[in-house]
Amino acid sequence: MSETAPLKRLYIKTYGCQMNVYDSERMADVLAPLGYGMTDSPEGADLVVLNTCHIREKATEKVYSELGQIKRLKETKRAEGGAMTIAVAGCVAQAEGEEILRRQPAVDLVVGPQAYHQLPELIARAHRARGERLAAAFAPEEKFDALSVERRPTGVTAFLTVQEGCDKFCTFCVVPYTRGGEWSRPAETIEAEARSLAEKGVREVTLLGQNVNAYAGEGGLAGLVRRLATIPGLDRIRYTTSHPRDMDEALIAAHAEVEALMPYLHLPVQAGSDRILKAMNRAHTADSYLRLIEKIRAARPDIAISGDFIVGFPGERDADFEATLQLVREVGHASAFSFKYSRRPGTPAAAMPGQVAEEVKDERLARLNALLDEQRLAFNAAQVGRTLPVLFEKLGRHPGQIIGRSPYLQSVHVAAPDRLIGEIVPVRIESSASNSLAGALDLETV
Ligand code: 5AD
Ligand code: SF4
Repeated sequence: MSETAPLKRLYIKTYGCQMNVYDSERMADVLAPLGYGMTDSPEGADLVVLNTCHIREKATEKVYSELGQIKRLKETKRAEGGAMTIAVAGCVAQAEGEEILRRQPAVDLVVGPQAYHQLPELIARAHRARGERLAAAFAPEEKFDALSVERRPTGVTAFLTVQEGCDKFCTFCVVPYTRGGEWSRPAETIEAEARSLAEKGVREVTLLGQNVNAYAGEGGLAGLVRRLATIPGLDRIRYTTSHPRDMDEALIAAHAEVEALMPYLHLPVQAGSDRILKAMNRAHTADSYLRLIEKIRAARPDIAISGDFIVGFPGERDADFEATLQLVREVGHASAFSFKYSRRPGTPAAAMPGQVAEEVKDERLARLNALLDEQRLAFNAAQVGRTLPVLFEKLGRHPGQIIGRSPYLQSVHVAAPDRLIGEIVPVRIESSASNSLAGALDLETV
């Protein structure tokens, strides 16, 4: 690839999940050969891409308000004799592409998550005529065939998509409609991409998939983890997001046996009431989830458990919500994400009776968050006095400070020389807060 200065400026704004972060990086990769270089402000950019999220109503609405602002920047640029192309990518583009073009005429093109490898061609077409809308069929294999396995990582950690889509059809969720059915990349190309990352200094990869533990390539996810763990330099492997249904014995065993597999598991349970779990079509009960956690902890006792929760699902009564709190108390979470149920058009739950009032959702969310905060604080406090291997990733805010991650994904702040960035170093944990730990190096390390 030519190293000449970029001729055109590209601004990408990413919303939503880590898969979108990965996709944005790959969009930059496919646009680089056309002379697009990244800029960190939309002002004066030649191409603006909004990589959008459709999971909750708020995320979707943000896109339209952002587009209003970008439109003004486009007008300013035009008044100065320049031109700006605006592209909407991601799940909102997939779900309501035509609506976007109708609501915001400044948008030049929309492109779904399985079609962004065609951005160069689409941009060329949009320059000729506005409103080119790709019929975004679900064809992840075509996208991955078109993307190079060569990566240009920007740090010592990286995301790597191994699986896309979802066949689970939880009744609240748009993902099966926006990302399509479950599809897994072949292990060979994943390995090639991981090797490319490791050769360029990446020490930790997070394998991504909407249902990553449903990975159906050879050997399943456990096989893939074992395969990637042999790559020189790749010392840490994580994966997200998992469904309890696909947490098989082989993957649990990998947590006991594969040193590179980090002791952190994001395993959403969503709710603690069996009646609500059934209405959500989750295919697990509170009890089966707890038994699964027990099994995982038997394999890896120190594993940090994380999850997602929805409060105020249609029909959720006080007793159901209490069951969620009870389940949280029994699990003991290291971290978690909790959301108010958001009614998504076209999903079965949107039409269910018993929609819960906003004030009730607010109150339940506050109570759940208070409990989860308490658990996170306790988990962090339990690390004080231990010595943990920390992968240093970046400079801290204070001079002489660098920041890394513990095996449990906690941020760790340490006074240490910046030459340790990219290294995994033992750190004695001295104090904890709600979102981070602080510690010191052993004297021999300095
Ligand atoms: N409302 C609220 N939260 C939702 N999630 C998915 N769909 C909805 C919705 N309609 C949450 C789930 C999922 C996470 C990614 O987002 O908890 O695990
Ligand atoms: Fe959505 Fe459920 Fe699939 Fe997760 S498992 S992406 S929540 S439908």
